[in-house]
Amino acid sequence: MAEAVILLAVKKIGVALGNDAINQATSKFKKFVTQLTELQGSMGRIKRELRLIHQFLSRMDVRNRNNETYEIWVEEARMMAHGIEDIVDEYLQLVTHKHDTRWSTYVKKGFMRANILLSLNKIASASKDAETNLVHLFQAKDRWVLMEGSGSTTSNDSSNYIVERSQHLASISRSLGEEDLVGVNRNREKLEEWLSDESSECSMITLHGMGGLGKTALAANAYRREKEKFQCHAWVSISQSYSIKDVLKCLITELSSNAEKRTWDNINNMDTEGLREELKRFLTHKKCLIVLDDVWTSEAINDLLGSLVCNLKGSRILVTTRVNDVAHLAFPNRRITLEPLYEKESHELFCRTAFPRDSNHECAAELSHLIDQIVSKCKGVPLAIVSVGRLVFVRDKTKEELRRIHDQLDWELVNNPSLEHVRSILYLSYIYLPTQLKSCFLYCSLFPEDHLLKRKALIRWWIAEGFISNRGRSTMEEVAEGYLQELVNRNMLQLIDRNSFGRIKSFRMHDIMHELAVDLCQRECFGVAYNGNDRHWEYEDRNERRLVIHKLSKDIDQAISCTLSLRSVIVLDNSMASSSSILRIVADKCRYMSVLELSGLPINMVPDAIGDLFNLHHLGLRGSNIKLLPKSIEKLTNLLTLDLFRSGIQELPRGIVKLKKLRHLFAEKQNDRHRRLFRWCTGVSIPKGLENLTNLQSLQALESQDESIRCLGELRQMRGLRLWNVKANHCEYLCESLLRMKFLSYLSITASDEDDVLHLDGLNPLPPSLHKLRLSGRLADSMLGAESPLFQADAGGQNLYSLRLFWSQLRKDPLPSLSRLLNLTELHFTRAYSGDKLVFLTGWFPKLKILRLRDLPNLKRMEIQQGAMASLERLRLINLSSMEEVPLGIEFIMPLKYLSFEEITLDFLQSLRQSKIGNMRWWHTLQQEIDMEPTVGLGRRMSCF
Ligand SMILES: *[C@@H]1O[C@H](CO)[C@@H](O)[C@H](O)[C@H]1NC(C)=O
Ligand SMILES: *[C@@H]1O[C@H](CO)[C@@H](O)[C@H](O)[C@H]1NC(C)=O
Ligand SMILES: *[C@@H]1O[C@H](CO)[C@@H](O)[C@H](O)[C@H]1NC(C)=O
Ligand SMILES: *[C@@H]1O[C@H](CO)[C@@H](O)[C@H](O)[C@H]1NC(C)=O
Ligand SMILES: *[C@@H]1O[C@H](CO)[C@@H](O)[C@H](O)[C@H]1NC(C)=O
Repeated sequence: MAEAVILLAVKKIGVALGNDAINQATSKFKKFVTQLTELQGSMGRIKRELRLIHQFLSRMDVRNRNNETYEIWVEEARMMAHGIEDIVDEYLQLVTHKHDTRWSTYVKKGFMRANILLSLNKIASASKDAETNLVHLFQAKDRWVLMEGSGSTTSNDSSNYIVERSQHLASISRSLGEEDLVGVNRNREKLEEWLSDESSECSMITLHGMGGLGKTALAANAYRREKEKFQCHAWVSISQSYSIKDVLKCLITELSSNAEKRTWDNINNMDTEGLREELKRFLTHKKCLIVLDDVWTSEAINDLLGSLVCNLKGSRILVTTRVNDVAHLAFPNRRITLEPLYEKESHELFCRTAFPRDSNHECAAELSHLIDQIVSKCKGVPLAIVSVGRLVFVRDKTKEELRRIHDQLDWELVNNPSLEHVRSILYLSYIYLPTQLKSCFLYCSLFPEDHLLKRKALIRWWIAEGFISNRGRSTMEEVAEGYLQELVNRNMLQLIDRNSFGRIKSFRMHDIMHELAVDLCQRECFGVAYNGNDRHWEYEDRNERRLVIHKLSKDIDQAISCTLSLRSVIVLDNSMASSSSILRIVADKCRYMSVLELSGLPINMVPDAIGDLFNLHHLGLRGSNIKLLPKSIEKLTNLLTLDLFRSGIQELPRGIVKLKKLRHLFAEKQNDRHRRLFRWCTGVSIPKGLENLTNLQSLQALESQDESIRCLGELRQMRGLRLWNVKANHCEYLCESLLRMKFLSYLSITASDEDDVLHLDGLNPLPPSLHKLRLSGRLADSMLGAESPLFQADAGGQNLYSLRLFWSQLRKDPLPSLSRLLNLTELHFTRAYSGDKLVFLTGWFPKLKILRLRDLPNLKRMEIQQGAMASLERLRLINLSSMEEVPLGIEFIMPLKYLSFEEITLDFLQSLRQSKIGNMRWWHTLQQEIDMEPTVGLGRRMSCF
């Protein structure tokens, strides 16, 4: 542990010694070169020392868990790393912060200089101390931590330890008996069928899922039953730090012991090649069953497959893994994904374990409620259920005792020695994470149980926290998305939803994983969650760096002000009006703050003091009431994200263009919650200097003006751009600018009024990575003609996934043209078409998942032929006031995940009920209801059939 913290300190020093900071420091401290050089030298040495400690920690970690001597040492190391982070931040502030000009007119120059020197000296001496302490700490480890045979601590030892540890755990899983398998019948049958079918080809079968779901237990069960049907069989635990040689040896020994009764005297003297040959010779003639348990990398399999020649004897290789990539080495019809148990199965398994002697394992009725509660905490993870069940088995089965167990379960999961193996199984996943992923993982656990995390927001936070570094030509956002993918791939995070074209959209952390991660977070002082009723706040001298507030309470102000070293505050609770004081307190008290996420809070004003948070990387005020920002915002030169999306913002200070590191700027005011008005939002204008924000990747949204449209083309990094108020005479420059944005992936353009025509013919070719396009305003019919950039052969719109047309008022049926966009997954029309008929022909829109048609006042008839929109999942028809008959052929696309007819008349409802889909599932709202209750969100009043 503490690796993550130390790595962050190392990165921070990297910033302080980077070119930017060095240049600024050199110009600011021209007169004090000696002191400066000395300080920089000291920081460089600290960095080296920290890296050594980091390296040492990443080797030691596993073995010494729970060793007190070691833990104390690690604690020291972590505290020092935090102290060093403070020193470096102090230094960065001194170097990069612009002192208020107001101030300097009052204070004489000489005094200023003396003052700065004083600060510099103070920092230098703190740095010297830190350096000495670090050296001392590193030596102390030789005296205390490594007393026993410090010479022999090669990395072999610790990997042996991991191997031992995982084998121990595997043996626990294997020992789970028949009675511990519940709710797996289907999987067991499948597995047995695949193992025993007649096919003579050698095939690979994979079992995968997160730790604790019972992969090994299931494999062991099948192995026990089926192995005798094979001529030879072997079970080998791989684990991450496997050595190919050892695995080969194990395989040969096991296979031969049950087949040939032959002993291998010389196996220890063979080299890897020899072993491979031996295994190959063996396998060529026999039908074998091989289980490779707990495989972490696909390389491990590929290494082995080299020797596992595929004979035609009907051999089977069964692999268990937590990693999706590994699972994908088997054919899709030979993979089993384990899921958590359902409630009923969980209950059954629990009772079997806790009350094994009772007939039918039934538990007393008066306990059943408590048992339900206990079981629900285990979230369907069999390992946890069985372990907690055994815990209950050895205790009194009284109501009081069960309640105590229930109340303490979180604590027990983290602390009870008899649950150690539950912890270890999940802990193992954590230990195997590369250090840079550890911080990202811990971060997710600061959010409440079951909290739905969103990809984009989380990635911006990770970057602002400094967890992500550039890698090659990838942006930090791309690297971060890779990390996220990796965590999902390792089953550390559960994927909940993808967007219509397959990118991760939302995910959450599994509960039990969450519980353990929370414990790790606390031990590392990585961060804490605050939920309003934590009594420890008052008296503890806290050193946490991150605070995620799940629930606000009155003493939150105090909580924040007694945690001065805070770097991040994220507030998830927007229920309390008084929460608006948070921003003021933070601005006054937390000088090093780097991530401030207050989205959704009813904040009206940003205090001037915000400008003093020189370290601020992220400021999130989405959905607030803020109309204006103070001028001091221009001092936040480290800001990466400024989020005022859907707030009351009307104008940005001119100095905004001084924030050259800004990557994501969201500033948009929402005028109409129902999004029916043509101009339901307004953006912000940036009349001068926009071209200086060259790092911008998101700009949402800009009010178009001659000047800003012309210089937009300088923003080459742009990924997501939203423009309001585009006039006909802007279009030419706009297209020119857009053509220069090679990475543009989301583009939204709204004309200045509903009759202005958008001329976008000049946007040719379309930016190659443009995936989402939203156009609002009259379109010339040529936009859908043969010459339109959408349909050009080379790039064209083939990469478009999502197209939304608003107020285009097309007279010609757009579908025949648009059907050429084969990759489209989402299509939306609002007042886009003024004709009376839409027909979807067979084969059109093969990948379309979402279709929304709204406010097409003349549309009378809609027809869907069989085989059109074959992948459709969601269809919404809203306010199609002229439509009198149920869309023809709608039954061909049923069933859908979601189908709704909104703002319809009673007559139309009647027709629907009598139509072919009358007794299927769909939703509706009536016109009148909207009229009567204009403030209710559209989706809420729906009823279901
Ligand atoms: C902790 O580690 C030290 C040194 O490595 C060793 O001497 C000591 O016995 C360990 N303590 C425990 C409880 O394992
Ligand atoms: C680990 O052990 C193997 C022999 O088992 C040896 O060849 C290798 O050099 C060792 N690695 C280290 C880092 O000591
Ligand atoms: C843009 O940057 C250039 C060079 O960095 C600077 O000279 C210019 O004043 C900046 N423009 C604005 C409006 O800040
Ligand atoms: C879009 O579709 C074309 C043809 O169906 C295909 O070749 C191309 O790879 C697709 N592009 C993307 C980004 O999926
Ligand atoms: C529904 O469409 C009609 C035009 O057909 C329009 O006048 C009306 O405003 C629309 N309803 C809403 C709620 O926008």
